[in-house]
Amino acid sequence: MKHLLGIKPLSVADIELIFQTADEFKEVINRPIKKVPSLRDITIANVFFENSTRTRISFELAEKRLSADVVNFSASSSSVKKGETLLDTVQNILAMKVDMVVMRHSSVGAPHFLAKHVPANIINAGDGTHEHPTQALLDAYSVRERLGEVGGKRIAIIGDIMHSRVALSNIFAFQKLGAELMVCGPTTLIPKYIGSLGVRVETDVRKALAWCDVANVLRIQLERQQIKYFPSLREYRLYYGITKKMLEQLDKEIVVMHPGPINRGVELSSDAADSSQAIILDQVENGVAVRMAVLYLLAGGRSGI
Ligand code: CP
Repeated sequence: MKHLLGIKPLSVADIELIFQTADEFKEVINRPIKKVPSLRDITIANVFFENSTRTRISFELAEKRLSADVVNFSASSSSVKKGETLLDTVQNILAMKVDMVVMRHSSVGAPHFLAKHVPANIINAGDGTHEHPTQALLDAYSVRERLGEVGGKRIAIIGDIMHSRVALSNIFAFQKLGAELMVCGPTTLIPKYIGSLGVRVETDVRKALAWCDVANVLRIQLERQQIKYFPSLREYRLYYGITKKMLEQLDKEIVVMHPGPINRGVELSSDAADSSQAIILDQVENGVAVRMAVLYLLAGGRSGI
């Protein structure tokens, strides 16, 4: 594969290869010297047209741990502000001999458009409400790490499904690996097509928690909402906010995930987010190893780890 634009084109064997490679890189990043020379001939541009903390730092660290040369581009401080187009921006960056582009953009399909028009490898770091493939890979990797396997597990994705790019990539990745999927949230935040993807739909968060082995909790993505989908954040918290007490009332210990950023006290209380059931910071740690694996494999994976 030349690009990573979404999860759908990946086979189960591809995902397992990414996980096995990430296992090796996880060992590398826990050594005193966390660097390998695998991508020392490669230059990578991180082109972010939207805000990011985790994904951007995680990709940059992954690239540096692989000894790639790295340039960072932020639309807010660039000539995009003077009217330069996406294609012109990226073609100018590539003219400086860049091999791979990691891109986040608010428009659905922006990395797919780029992949058709430029010769570099393109990695989708989140395109609008569409997909966030490396997040889904690190999420599935983290479940595999915590529970031993993904196959047969029940995964509930809870929150703003409608405006989430994590939800769709998670559904594709977890289903490929043999998990059962449920989405849960207010009906106004669940897309009508979602049932056609073979997922259960639930509006009662307590039923979703009782059903699942893993709850992947999503934030309300107000920045992508043009109209009001629920009366207030206070009311959302009352009906859908997950607390440690709710977790303790279950007859089993479930795993709690969140892709970040968390809106503490809205979708997840602090005592739930910081509980031993939460693997939120494990997800972040695993993100570096999984992204190292993706970059290494897309670059050809021949130089030896
Ligand atoms: N999970 C995630 O994409 O976080 P950022 O928006 O901080 O990159």
